[in-house]
Amino acid sequence: MGSLKELVAFIIIMCATSVTTMTLAQNAMAPAPAPPSADNPNTTVVLHNGGSVPMVFHCMSLEVDFKTRIMMPGGTWSFEFLPSVSGDTKYACSFAWRLKYHLFRIYWQSRDQVSGPHGCKRCEWKLRPEGPCQINEKTGKIDHCPPWDSQLF
Ligand SMILES: *[C@@H]1O[C@H](CO)[C@@H](O)[C@H](O)[C@H]1NC(C)=O
Repeated sequence: MGSLKELVAFIIIMCATSVTTMTLAQNAMAPAPAPPSADNPNTTVVLHNGGSVPMVFHCMSLEVDFKTRIMMPGGTWSFEFLPSVSGDTKYACSFAWRLKYHLFRIYWQSRDQVSGPHGCKRCEWKLRPEGPCQINEKTGKIDHCPPWDSQLF
């Protein structure tokens, strides 16, 4: 299992740059996606690891830091928030599959607000090393695959 050793070494490097030590047990207790509900004004962002190896990821806004997490292939994780009235809510993540490392603005209110062409209230993304793809909230189709971003904010 040379690949497992490689992954573990990479995770240790990632964690060394963070003050928080993240364990798999904590990751297993990540909140489940909130059921869509008419009386919940929050927007939910759902991430899927569409890669074939574990995904090390780190999502944040300028105010919130979800810390470094690990998701197994086929795994899911989500978070929710109330989009701001001024329209400037921004969340961005880094994603790593072994040594492939990418950045993506996972929720950019000016792009993703409900009224936009790919707007969503439940914003679901399949992340693969080749790039992110949005799962259409209404049709369930994966037909929106923008490029990775070159910076977080
Ligand atoms: C909306 O999201 C916030 C932040 O996660 C959470 O504290 C709050 O309980 C959520 N509201 C509802 C109605 O679920």
